[in-house]
Amino acid sequence: MDKKKLKILIIGDDLNNSKDFSKIINDALPGTKIYIALNGPQGIKLAKNNEPDVILIDVSVSKVNSLKISQILKKEEDLQSTPMLFITDLEDDREFRIEALKAGAEAFLIKPIEDTILITQLKAMAKVKERNILIKNQKEQLESLVKSRTLDLKNEIVERKKLEMDLQESEEILKTYIEKAPIGIFVTDALGKYVDANEMACQLMGRNREEVLKLSITDFLTPSQLDKGLEEFHELMSKGFLDTEYKVRKKDNQEYWISLRASKINDNCILAFCVDISERRLSEERLKRLHENQEIFSEELAKKNKEISLRLQQTINTISKIGEMKDVYTAGHQRRVASLACAIAREMKLPEEVIDNISIGALIHDIGKINIPSDILNKPGKISSLEYQILQGHVENSYEIVKAINFPQKVIEMIHQHHERLDGTGYPQKLVGEQIITESRILVVADVVEAMMSHRPYRAALGIDSAIDEITMHKGVKYDSKVVDACIKLFRERGFSLPE
Ligand SMILES: [Fe+2]
Repeated sequence: MDKKKLKILIIGDDLNNSKDFSKIINDALPGTKIYIALNGPQGIKLAKNNEPDVILIDVSVSKVNSLKISQILKKEEDLQSTPMLFITDLEDDREFRIEALKAGAEAFLIKPIEDTILITQLKAMAKVKERNILIKNQKEQLESLVKSRTLDLKNEIVERKKLEMDLQESEEILKTYIEKAPIGIFVTDALGKYVDANEMACQLMGRNREEVLKLSITDFLTPSQLDKGLEEFHELMSKGFLDTEYKVRKKDNQEYWISLRASKINDNCILAFCVDISERRLSEERLKRLHENQEIFSEELAKKNKEISLRLQQTINTISKIGEMKDVYTAGHQRRVASLACAIAREMKLPEEVIDNISIGALIHDIGKINIPSDILNKPGKISSLEYQILQGHVENSYEIVKAINFPQKVIEMIHQHHERLDGTGYPQKLVGEQIITESRILVVADVVEAMMSHRPYRAALGIDSAIDEITMHKGVKYDSKVVDACIKLFRERGFSLPE
């Protein structure tokens, strides 16, 4: 304020008065720029061009003009902050003062004016201008801020409207998806009453939407499913989730199965998805029936197999005994051979199926002896070469008999090979090595050991030691090494003994 030089405009038609004011001001505030106008238009022009800090209007000649000048100046945007100081003659003209204040007067000075009062008032008016400018700037800033914020708000509103429209569009798309979804989707309240249902849900229920919305979940359940439905609905309300299957019916009472998954959205809203699973249930039921039939069939089959197996065993035992009835000295021979052969096979850890075949084969391997004359079979002492030849024929006889009965191939083969030896010295085919099957190799050793341990018309029993000596002597030559080892282990380590 002190550094800035003031600019003061004096408007008055008395030049001398104006000059007096000018002098007083310059004396008190040297350097102050003073403009003097003798009439309104001149004053307005000078004010517009110079933007004074204070305007002094001398109203002593024309009050009306001074009011008009004041009104015009106040309308000028650049001058709105400039205070106007009215200089009057009449101390008590109250009405004029009011009009002047309305026209923009800031203060009044009454003639005669003391110099000090004039200067003090001018300084005060200059401060008023500064304050006015400050207020104006603040107002402008505020307006600018309001304008900017208003624009932001407008943009926000536009953006929000766009978002709302997008959201509405998304909601509509979502609604369409839900409506056209290939699974049933519906919403119920806490009592299970339908609140909404999509096309597929209505289709599954065999009703239109209007009809569906008048009903509850339980209205679609078949009577047999009602208790389950009510119980599970309570479960859904307490646990919040349900995954189940129901038998339901349409309006025309057509029954079908649905899979239902439901979630409690809130205390009065259930969202559920359902799918027709009738085809799957039908397949499952068919499969279950098939499975049950299969089980019955398997049980019957097992029963029949057991019967057949029993009959076969009885038949084999009978055949075995028939053969032994003719050969009195070898009675029980086949049974004992079967016992030893099976024990050897087990010691060698052969499969049960092989052991079964060995048992059958061993029990009937000498059946061909029924075609050999009894006097040769039971002849005490040494037999002739011809008789020996006839005796050897029992192998082919046995083979022909079992072949005709249609026994398993391995059984037929082992009987055919039960007098063969690995080195080819056996009969009737004189097979060697690998040509002789495992079953036969076992039967051969069991046959030799049992025969040596039993009485014969032409000699007494030789005992286990002699039998073991015999098979050990020819181990790997006539007899299979593994079979021999297993046989010796049975007698020496396992405590095996032939049955009576
Ligand atoms: Fe034999």
